[in-house]
Amino acid sequence: MSGTAAELLARAAELGAVSEEPRRLVRRFATPALARAGGLVAGWMEAAGMTVRRDALGNVVGRVGGEAAPLVLGSHIDTVPDAGRYDGPLGVLAALAVVERLRDDGTRPTVPLEVVAFADEEGTRFGTSYLGSAAYAGGFDRAWLDLPDADGITIAAAIRDAGGDPEQAVAAPAPELAGYVEVHIEQGPVLEREGLPVGIVSAIAGQSRVRVAVTGEAGHAGTLPMDGRRDALAAAAEMVLAVERVGRGQEGLVATVGALSLSPNVGNVVPGEVRMLLDVRHAEDPTRARAVDEIRAQVEQIAAAREVDAEWATRYDIAAVELDPRLRELLADAVRAEGLPVRELVSGAGHDAVVLSRLCPAAMLFVRCAGGISHDPRESVSEADVGVALDVLERVVRRFA
Ligand code: HGY
Ligand code: MN
Ligand code: MN
Repeated sequence: MSGTAAELLARAAELGAVSEEPRRLVRRFATPALARAGGLVAGWMEAAGMTVRRDALGNVVGRVGGEAAPLVLGSHIDTVPDAGRYDGPLGVLAALAVVERLRDDGTRPTVPLEVVAFADEEGTRFGTSYLGSAAYAGGFDRAWLDLPDADGITIAAAIRDAGGDPEQAVAAPAPELAGYVEVHIEQGPVLEREGLPVGIVSAIAGQSRVRVAVTGEAGHAGTLPMDGRRDALAAAAEMVLAVERVGRGQEGLVATVGALSLSPNVGNVVPGEVRMLLDVRHAEDPTRARAVDEIRAQVEQIAAAREVDAEWATRYDIAAVELDPRLRELLADAVRAEGLPVRELVSGAGHDAVVLSRLCPAAMLFVRCAGGISHDPRESVSEADVGVALDVLERVVRRFA
């Protein structure tokens, strides 16, 4: 029988073995591993009776039903480095399972269904986010094409190398969509703490992503006296602690320097350059904006005191998103029909639903994950909870009109 939680978990394991590296799961945008994963998903979609296309970005789109505006179900299949196998793929495979359930009992969906596996949500390779859903939703910014990865390869070159046409990504029109529902692991401890298998996402926190480049002066670690140094790493370290202090200073705020590179990165040279990625999030945009301003002021103060330069380059600023009340109610009815309490919660993590919500009503169903662990190979879900999520999603699809 298809469309079961057991089959979903088996597919997640198969997909989870498709990686750029032999000993850990990492599947970045526009890599051969991502293309292989897309091929696997495309095969499952075809076997489920869907017509399948792959767009310029490598998004895989399966469709069943007529030509009207579809209900879109899905999530992403790219990952962070050393990832778990469910962050993203759970949503794609849950959507696929529901399509198989409708096929198996001969139900023609009330509206066409599109299942989408987005090719870049994490932004692991280019420090962006949502390249896949942005291209799918007709909002791909031409300026992104010139962004380089750590090896200096631009997004445009990466798309071409992967067989796509960057111009198509930019030109893709905004599709007419009837709605979007994404199933995703919670990536937090709330559902587990409250003993609930699923929860409904009320809103997704806003995010600011900033690249801070600190430039001091490299020098011989053995001969350069301590006073008068313009040590870029020491300055950056003080800035990282300032970020943590601001993050701790406000309820519901998170502020992180999640990536840092320095040069020259050798033991006997005082670092002259540091590049950092700052990530600030909050459910309310004004609070996040104030925190970003506070961090910037402290970065500039520290730079001045240490006579280094600090260049502040905002990568993106994404507003918080309230998810669609009607779709949330549809999800709530389906959860209640399972005999479960309805629990709404805010998502601190970003999701493709942020982008889709600009085009159509969007909603998300969270699934409990062990210890709230995610972005880590220990990420896991139970077959029973996945079964509940599939039943809830199936009810929503059958009743969607
Ligand atoms: O960073 C996030 O919130 C998501 O995992 N891309
Ligand atoms: Mn995700
Ligand atoms: Mn993620």
